[in-house]
Amino acid sequence: MFPRLSANPMLEERTGDKVVVPPPTGRPYPVITASRSQLAQTMHAHGLAGGRCFVVTDDNVAELYGAEIETSLTDGDFEVSMQIVQPGEAAKDLEIVSDLYRWAFAEGVDRSTPVVALGGGVIGDLTGFFAATVLRGVPLVHVPTTLVAQVDSSIGGKTGVNHVSGKNLIGSFYRPTFTLADTEMLGTLPDVEWRNGLSEVLKHALIRDAVFYEWLRSNWSDVTSRSSALVPELVSRAMSIKIDVVAQDEFEGGLRRILNFGHTFGHAIERIAGFGTIGHGAAVALGMRAACWLSADRGRSVPLTEVDAMLRDLTPSRLPRMPVDWLLQSMRRDKKRIGDTLHLILLESVGRAEIVTDATDSELRAALDFALS
Ligand code: NAD
Ligand code: GLY
Repeated sequence: MFPRLSANPMLEERTGDKVVVPPPTGRPYPVITASRSQLAQTMHAHGLAGGRCFVVTDDNVAELYGAEIETSLTDGDFEVSMQIVQPGEAAKDLEIVSDLYRWAFAEGVDRSTPVVALGGGVIGDLTGFFAATVLRGVPLVHVPTTLVAQVDSSIGGKTGVNHVSGKNLIGSFYRPTFTLADTEMLGTLPDVEWRNGLSEVLKHALIRDAVFYEWLRSNWSDVTSRSSALVPELVSRAMSIKIDVVAQDEFEGGLRRILNFGHTFGHAIERIAGFGTIGHGAAVALGMRAACWLSADRGRSVPLTEVDAMLRDLTPSRLPRMPVDWLLQSMRRDKKRIGDTLHLILLESVGRAEIVTDATDSELRAALDFALS
């Protein structure tokens, strides 16, 4: 048995397995940890009456859970229409959004038709953008099925698709009516997807929660092997960190930028390696290796050897050739820069992030050399 962590003091609105995201202004929405069998009743409880209901998912998730979700919604008085897209990043495309519009209009969408995003972050981002824009917005329900989606992408309202000019460049902030995460669904995830999600989990701990970091460190081999006894606690703690951050800064004016820890290095690595060559989670883990090294090099109190050993478990053992000059150039072009200034997230210590704007090329080079070593 794994000890439960004490309640996260930053979150006061936790009731049972429901945590409410209280944005700085406007409507709060709950993030609920519950069985998928509760979906229809949770929709009713949140004012989504029976009738037409759309579900968007991908082939893999449809195969595993499509029929079950459809039956449970139908039993709950919903008339389900399901659209299944190809799995993977390529589905985050305006052409696919356009296909979804065609389907929705043919099926008689109206402003009250709920749309359920059943899948990983790709489905959540794509479906969220579709729900935000069709008829200027219909109710959105996230049912995240990957670790990345449960602890990160289904919380905080970022939706969007990719563009030939870059990843996630088209999108909007759009709040779901609620997010319902069933941690049991993580049992069918391929190992590589579990590790992708662990990158985000470890990121959350490193930037915001030293107690959680210590829990992860001391249970690391059970964490990486996905011991079922600790999954609910891991998800709930990682979720609560994301909720805490976005509740304070929904639109990424300041604090939310700390969620980009490892991402400026990671995006450059993904881009230069060739999208799809290194998974996003693995690229972020490499990026966090670089960021931790630089934090330690600047004299911050980061236990580099210990953290780096965990991060190495989340990165591939063989990497494609990535010239550091190209990586550097790509980082300087990152969309998170403001004007000519690169806002880099480093650690002050485990559990405390800082934003620095004065990283020099020689520091970035050395950090990249370390991460790729
Ligand atoms: P994904 O959605 O591509 O899912 C990964 C793979 O797992 C897919 O092949 C999928 O079919 C499969 N899968 C999903 N659930 C499964 C299950 N329960 N069992 C078996 N297989 C399952 O990838 P992801 O890592 O979930 O999400 C990555 C995307 O999320 C990226 O596009 C990224 O930009 C986005 N993202 C968005 C935010 C945000 O705040 N909106 C945050 C982080 C990431
Ligand atoms: N995953 C980064 C963010 O939600 O801001």
